[in-house]
Amino acid sequence: MKLIGTKQIETEHLLLRRLTVKDAEEAYQNWCSSDVVSKYVLWSKHESVDVTKKLYETWEKEYDTLSTYRWIAELKHTGELIGTIDVASKRFLPFGSCEIGYCYGEKFWGKGYAAEALKAVIRFLFEECDMETIFAEYMSNNPASGRVMEKAGMTFEGILRGRIIDKDGIRNDLGSYSITKDEYLNRLNC
Ligand SMILES: CC(C)(COP(=O)(O)OP(=O)(O)OC[C@H]1O[C@@H](n2cnc3c(N)ncnc32)[C@H](O)[C@@H]1OP(=O)(O)O)[C@@H](O)C(=O)NCCC(=O)NCCS
Repeated sequence: MKLIGTKQIETEHLLLRRLTVKDAEEAYQNWCSSDVVSKYVLWSKHESVDVTKKLYETWEKEYDTLSTYRWIAELKHTGELIGTIDVASKRFLPFGSCEIGYCYGEKFWGKGYAAEALKAVIRFLFEECDMETIFAEYMSNNPASGRVMEKAGMTFEGILRGRIIDKDGIRNDLGSYSITKDEYLNRLNC
């Protein structure tokens, strides 16, 4: 695989670009401060905008490392910031595989944006970074996220039983989806 860092990606409705600390205020308003958004992810909602600013300062610096793949999603027709999508862990990159994570503000849900962004990032990682396998996991009580993975062309792999505890303290299964490069190329040719 090739480590080329976060490059800008444009889709029909979205601009996926590098985030900067200047985005922190809007990110905080639109999703980082939300109980609903943070319910099914591993991070906790930000208690103040300073938490978001600090995090975004760190993340902005991480772009110097070419193994960093993290985009903020901007709605092209309004300029609003709606969420983020990233390679969630660098752990698997040396093996040519990676895990994708994403989150979007609730006022932007149900419009197809999460699937549109995931599809575009999958294309980028296979076609420009020469990735071999891409996977993503979701809590079984968050089926909308599994559906996003399915809509982006990923294949359901199965359930990891009782692997995680959600924000309400409830033990949950993780559902897992993946797509291999061969699968991606075959689908392009169909
Ligand atoms: C999960 C999330 C990414 C979905 O974003 P979105 O922009 O609404 O996603 P899309 O509009 O592209 O697709 C959502 C799909 O889920 C479906 N869906 C919604 N609620 C559902 C439910 N309870 N059960 C099954 N499917 C559901 C929608 O109908 C839609 O499918 P469709 O287009 O076939 O109708 C968004 O809700 C989010 O960011 N949540 C908080 C953070 C999070 O959960 N991140 C993922 C962690 S794994």
